Amino acid sequence: MSTSMHCWRGIILLGGPGSGKGTQATLLAQKLGVAHISTGDLFRQNIKLETPLGKLAKAYIEKGELVPDDVTVSLVQERLKRPDCANGFILDGFPRTIAQADALNRVLADMQLSLTAVLNLRVAPEVLVDRLSRRWTCKSCGAVFPEFSLPPRAGCKKDICDGELYQRPDDRPETQRHRIEVYHEQTAPLEAYYAARGLLIQIDGEGSIESVHQRIIEAVRCKD
Ligand code: AP5
Ligand code: MG
Repeated sequence: MSTSMHCWRGIILLGGPGSGKGTQATLLAQKLGVAHISTGDLFRQNIKLETPLGKLAKAYIEKGELVPDDVTVSLVQERLKRPDCANGFILDGFPRTIAQADALNRVLADMQLSLTAVLNLRVAPEVLVDRLSRRWTCKSCGAVFPEFSLPPRAGCKKDICDGELYQRPDDRPETQRHRIEVYHEQTAPLEAYYAARGLLIQIDGEGSIESVHQRIIEAVRCKD
């Protein structure tokens, strides 16, 4: 049995668009047996299903703007109550503003939980742009693939999925640039916020997916 079975973990993955949050959260959630909560994926599912939340979120996401805090916080608050969070969770893409971080503190305090660590994936801006330009996403399950790992027009290869792959509309060059600006203005201040609380761990997010995963595993190794 792995040590992970004994530790509850509440982990946040911070990092710019394309830094590998989704890729690494998927691997880490599997390894630790905790829930992977991506607000971007939750919004995209709602857009696909044309729910009222999806219609609202779509207008912001297509422009590379953040969805309003109140809507986003309620979504996460509900998600954290689901039974798959019993062993913990990895938050991918949330919080993204100081107001969201403050709200998360209140939500967790109400649940008598506290965060274990905040991992900041550091990747140079030119690498972010390159990764986003080459990313393919599955329409069906949301898995992502770097272009170099796929023959063109291949279907999704995640488990038994055979969904169609597409390029996210917000990965267009002008929207990409705006998302990176929004990240620097609104989300990067969270590094200082969590450093002040003794939770921030810097992770070198460059190199192979596997080598970044190994750095993360070292960083979150259970202390008991
Ligand atoms: P979201 O979906 O969270 O987008 P993001 O933060 O811009 O991040 P990405 O998903 O683009 O990148 P990632 O870091 O997950 O990288 P990935 O693993 O895919 O949010 C989208 C939008 O929703 C926001 O713009 C906003 O409008 C809204 N939203 C979401 N959360 C919100 C919130 N809390 N508040 C308000 N609004 C919110 O990797 C990228 C590519 O690189 C992939 O192709 C991958 O295969 C490849 N790759 C990964 N790692 C490596 C590696 N080590 N080497 C080579 N390639 C790699
Ligand atoms: Mg993502």
